[in-house]
Amino acid sequence: MKIEFVASSGAAEILALLVHEGRALAGTGPALDQAASGALVKAMKNSRFNGAASSSLNVAAPAGIDANAVLLVGAGAADKLDDLAVETAAAAAYQATKLSGAEVLTIDVSHLSPELAARAGFAVRLAAYRFAKYLTKQKADKIPSVTTVRVVTSDVKAAEAAFQPLSAVADAVLFARDLVSEPANILYPAEFVRRVKELEALGAKVEILGEAEMQKLGMGSLLGVGQGSVRESQLAVIQWNGGKEGEAPIAFVGKGVCFDTGGISLKPADGMEEMKWDMGGAAAVAGLMHALVGRKAKVNVVGVLGLVENMPDGNAQRPGDVVTSMSGQTIEVLNTDAEGRLVLADALWYTQDRFKPKFMIDLATLTGAIIISLGLEYAGVFTNSDELAANIADAGPKVGEKSWRMPIPAEYDRHIDSPIADVKNMGNGRAGGSITAALFLQRFTNGVPWAHIDIASTAWVKDSKNPTVPDGAVGYGVRLLDRMVADHYEG
Ligand code: BES
Ligand code: MN
Ligand code: ZN
Repeated sequence: MKIEFVASSGAAEILALLVHEGRALAGTGPALDQAASGALVKAMKNSRFNGAASSSLNVAAPAGIDANAVLLVGAGAADKLDDLAVETAAAAAYQATKLSGAEVLTIDVSHLSPELAARAGFAVRLAAYRFAKYLTKQKADKIPSVTTVRVVTSDVKAAEAAFQPLSAVADAVLFARDLVSEPANILYPAEFVRRVKELEALGAKVEILGEAEMQKLGMGSLLGVGQGSVRESQLAVIQWNGGKEGEAPIAFVGKGVCFDTGGISLKPADGMEEMKWDMGGAAAVAGLMHALVGRKAKVNVVGVLGLVENMPDGNAQRPGDVVTSMSGQTIEVLNTDAEGRLVLADALWYTQDRFKPKFMIDLATLTGAIIISLGLEYAGVFTNSDELAANIADAGPKVGEKSWRMPIPAEYDRHIDSPIADVKNMGNGRAGGSITAALFLQRFTNGVPWAHIDIASTAWVKDSKNPTVPDGAVGYGVRLLDRMVADHYEG
């Protein structure tokens, strides 16, 4: 997708104009003459279109507008036109026209700030994401025709400048979505790290630990999960030092289960294919690092990815096995399908042990129970730090990635005590399944301020209502944490 910022719309194929609730044409648009705007208002009055967010109305271009067609795009309430509202409108404009046959879509936001114009371009990049690499017989009319979006702005230079960091974030979200979309026969731990190595070209430092190195470090918990797979487990360590020299980094840790069969505690066949995206946490952390490095964020930051495949096999770990984690704590593995926490136990311990970070945030498609608790639009946030809770809560609404803070009550900690080891990898039955998972992780944080974001609910979307997020891989967490870092931890 090509995004261009231009000072005037010129002769447009499709010209998109913003309309607010109540059928109010936004701004002056292309300095519409009265007859033209009168014709547009008339067209709206003959339809149900009233300017609601995400809706649009296609009309023939009236005389006085140099375009083949006009698309009226709902931008919601006029007094609530923030970043997100402009993003939604621009993305909706793209979704409504992408298969029209037109190659160029022109979106006129010349009455808005150049920063908001940049947001429009950013949103179109996210909206235009497709994972089509394995479609070899696509029908021509199913392939988007729009390949260029021109954003009309009052200040081209300022819009281009504002677009630069946003475009880096878009690159990062698309990078994460590609990782999440790939099937597990293509994206296994070694392939994942090959793709993460691409971040070196942007300026990141990337180290890879294989099974032998992890063995030396005593990561029996992570290695136990991968031992039933023919694919070698990997730990990826991504560093970016854009902040003050010597200042302690902030750290992000991702669950990267490239496929989760459940292991010997095998999952049912129905829907098991979804477990190709059980590496969504690691993809989000890789994407976040991509964003921070790509826009040269002024922060010292480390991203750690625990990458494994959870398979049933003659060599797989068994329910009841006891493994020794890098922390020294022993773990009774009651259910081999509660594997994400076993991966994170060693990844979290390693991260705090080596980097002494100011805080750690892990992202993980950790529990089905979070979907039961919160439904499919909110991720669950578990943290022992009110500061992290506040900063995550602050960033979410700005980028449209929703989350809800969950409790991690100390009273429940005994539910993961084991009679034969220091801890067991699930609670008693299914009660509070997301909470006992978080309590398990907490035992491997060594007191470092920490937040855990359970994204099992939000990593993948079906039947999306958000035009900036097409169905499939969301890349959830990249924008959320990029924004949190930008607003609270840079400079
Ligand atoms: N990867 C799953 C969690 C999951 C479920 C992610 C649905 C996305 C959609 C995780 O490894 C898992 O299997 N968790 C178990 C834990 C249980 C065995 C204690 C679960 O949620 O059932
Ligand atoms: Mn599992
Ligand atoms: Zn899993």
